[in-house]
Amino acid sequence: MANGNGTAGFHPSTNNLGVNLAFTKFLFVIPRREDDAAVQRLRLAGGLISRGFFNDYDADGSREVQPHETIQFLVADGERHGDSGIAAARYAVQASGKYRPRLQELELELQRRLGDAADVISIDGAERTPRYTSSEMYEFAYKRAAPRKSGRVAKNAIVLPMSKSGEWWKKSSLERHTYFYPHVDAGTGCPVHGHAQTAQEGIGTIYRRLYHNPDGYERQGEFDFITYFECEDEYVATFDKIHHGLRDIARNPEWLYVEEGPLWRGRRVLKW
Ligand code: HEM
Repeated sequence: MANGNGTAGFHPSTNNLGVNLAFTKFLFVIPRREDDAAVQRLRLAGGLISRGFFNDYDADGSREVQPHETIQFLVADGERHGDSGIAAARYAVQASGKYRPRLQELELELQRRLGDAADVISIDGAERTPRYTSSEMYEFAYKRAAPRKSGRVAKNAIVLPMSKSGEWWKKSSLERHTYFYPHVDAGTGCPVHGHAQTAQEGIGTIYRRLYHNPDGYERQGEFDFITYFECEDEYVATFDKIHHGLRDIARNPEWLYVEEGPLWRGRRVLKW
């Protein structure tokens, strides 16, 4: 092994911090106009970019073989309040696959087909093997994890891009590990739950995905991670409770090092 990643030499999908197993792309669409023609154009563009992708609206996590290239259309919940950035996006789409250029093509095609009718903000992510997950953590947080359900049932999607501070990345990987487990906080000397136990209530009820920045961390103007969640209406409150809990540094000191991006809430739809 030449570089500690389990791969010999440089490969485009790897960097010094991990191996990208698959890619995802979130495209947030901010319409410049909301007239019928612009909406028609968006719908047409959505239909065209989804060709060749399996539509995850009817995802079924219990299938033995999962499709390779998938797409999920989202529409923002309620009125948009933000006037810039992803907070202003009325529509979003997530496309995933093993081959990154395919997702890049999809982005270009969407932009081309929307023309001046909308602005598009793109955030890329990559799946990686869990870094802080022991076999015990696997038992606790993954084995009982909510499977993916159809958008007809799990209607809500929440996207939260975020980064970690320079101070976090300066810590050794073993020290970072601690924050995900119940531990004694070095700062206060008090026992704390840590990330996984604080979020425990969501394990069986909220489908979750963590994506890493495919090009590495601490990149200027980019996020380190995108977190993505789906759930049924009744568990939106559970998500909010967990999110609130994770922000409580008395329970989860990890959040001292978290810089949250804008939280985007939407509904899963079959098409725009
Ligand atoms: C629903 C219950 C949840 C459970 C059981 C859970 C559990 C975990 C675990 C075990 C890890 C470590 C992954 C690894 O080994 O690399 C992790 C990472 C992470 N989780 Fe959660 N989590 C939950 C909810 C959340 C929520 C609601 C958020 C955001 C609001 C979140 C954000 C993150 C982030 C950004 C990371 C990556 C942190 C890093 O690598 O430094 N999680 N989570």
